[in-house]
Amino acid sequence: MTNEELIAKARQAQQNAYAPYSGFKVGAALLSGDGKVFTGCNVENASYGLSVCAERTAIFKAVSEGIKEFAAMAIAGSGEGFIYPCGACLQVLAEFAPEIKLIITDEKNRSKEYNLQEMLPRLFVLR
Ligand code: THU
Repeated sequence: MTNEELIAKARQAQQNAYAPYSGFKVGAALLSGDGKVFTGCNVENASYGLSVCAERTAIFKAVSEGIKEFAAMAIAGSGEGFIYPCGACLQVLAEFAPEIKLIITDEKNRSKEYNLQEMLPRLFVLR
């Protein structure tokens, strides 16, 4: 799967975003180690703190289907400029895929690639 194909899936998922409070729609597409794609969108709630980001929706969908190995995630959001995943989502990603490739996009679908370690160099580990 190319970066462009994964970005297209993130854009598709963004259309399902439920974001009546922020108006900020996000889509994510997560590529598993065995080549499956799990998409996610943000799902907000009238009790704002219950809202969930697109990235975590995708991760939880995959893990609940028994998939825990991931190769890449593409993220597409509203607004201008590159959309970076929040720290909470990075921590959740690190639980399963500390080496995952993250494909970040802007409104013109230009993309940048990072690995998770660059984005979250010092994560919480339970010892
Ligand atoms: N959001 C995401 O879906 N992913 C992120 O990485 C950051 C923010 C969502 C949460 C909320 O619904 C909206 O964007 C505005 O914060």
